[in-house]
Amino acid sequence: MKEVSVSPKFVNKVRNVRNFLAMADALALSAGEGRLAAVVGPAGRGKTRTAQWYAGNNECTFVRCLSIWRHSELGFLQKLCYELGVKRIPHRKDPAFAAVIEALNQQGGRPVFIEEIEKLPRMHLELVRDLSDISTAPFVLIGEEELEHHLKQVRRMWNRTFQLLQFEALDVADTVVFAREAAGLGLPEDVAELLLRNSAGCFRVIKRDLQNLANIMNAKRAAAPNLELTKLAIKQSLRG
Ligand SMILES: Nc1ncnc2c1ncn2[C@@H]1O[C@H](COP(=O)(O)OP(=O)(O)OP(=O)(O)O)[C@@H](O)[C@H]1O
Ligand SMILES: [Mg+2]
Repeated sequence: MKEVSVSPKFVNKVRNVRNFLAMADALALSAGEGRLAAVVGPAGRGKTRTAQWYAGNNECTFVRCLSIWRHSELGFLQKLCYELGVKRIPHRKDPAFAAVIEALNQQGGRPVFIEEIEKLPRMHLELVRDLSDISTAPFVLIGEEELEHHLKQVRRMWNRTFQLLQFEALDVADTVVFAREAAGLGLPEDVAELLLRNSAGCFRVIKRDLQNLANIMNAKRAAAPNLELTKLAIKQSLRG
C-alpha cells in the first residue's frame, strides 16, 4: 500500500489565499498612488507563507523586521537596499533612504512586503509611509492583531491604508482541500470538522495533526481516514 505523507507544497485553493490574491490585484489597479495594505490575523493562519509564496512568484521584495533595528532606522533601510538589489549600500540614513527610493522607482511598482513591523517603534511605520508616498510603490504590512492597533495610532497612515485583509480561521472546505492537495487524502466531513475544532482553524495545527494522521494510517495500513484514527492523531499531537 502507498505510504501517506503531507507534502510541504503550498496550497493556493484556500480562502485566505484567494482573498490575498484579490487584495494584490486591487493594489495593482491603483498604481501611481502612495498605497499601503495590511494583512493581519492570529498566529499560524498562513500569513507569512502566503506572502512569501506571492513575493517569490512575482519578484517582490520581502523583509522581516528584526528587533535589533529598534534603535535606528538605518538597519531597516539597509536591509531594504539589499533586498532591492542596491549595489553599494550606504552607511548613513539619508543616502540609504535615497537609495531605497531610487530602487523602488526602478522596480515598476511591484509591492514590497514588510513583516512584523509592529515589533519596532512607530518611527519605522512613519518611514514606510514616507517611502510609499514618495516612491508610490505599494507596501504591504504583515502582522498580528497588534499591527492594526499600531496603524490606528498612526492615524494619517491608517487613512491611507488602502486595504486591511484579515486572515480568517480555516473552514471545512479549506481543510478538505488542504488534505487532498498536500496529502492526497479525501477527508470525510466529520473528520475535517474534528480537525478544525481541535485547531481553532489554525493552519499550523491542522498540518501537524494531518501528518500524525498520515503516520497512523501508514502504521495501521488503513486505506482511508476516519474519526477514530483522527482522534488518535490529535491525542498524539497533544502528547508530543
Ligand atoms: N496555503 C498554504 N499551503 C500549505 N501550507 C501552508 C499554507 N499556509 C500556511 N501553511 C503552513 O501553515 C503553517 C503556518 O503558516 P505561517 O507561518 O505562514 O502562519 P502565520 O500566520 O505567519 O503565523 P505566525 O503568526 O506564527 O507567524 C506553516 O507550516 C505553513 O507552511
Ligand atoms: Mg508569520
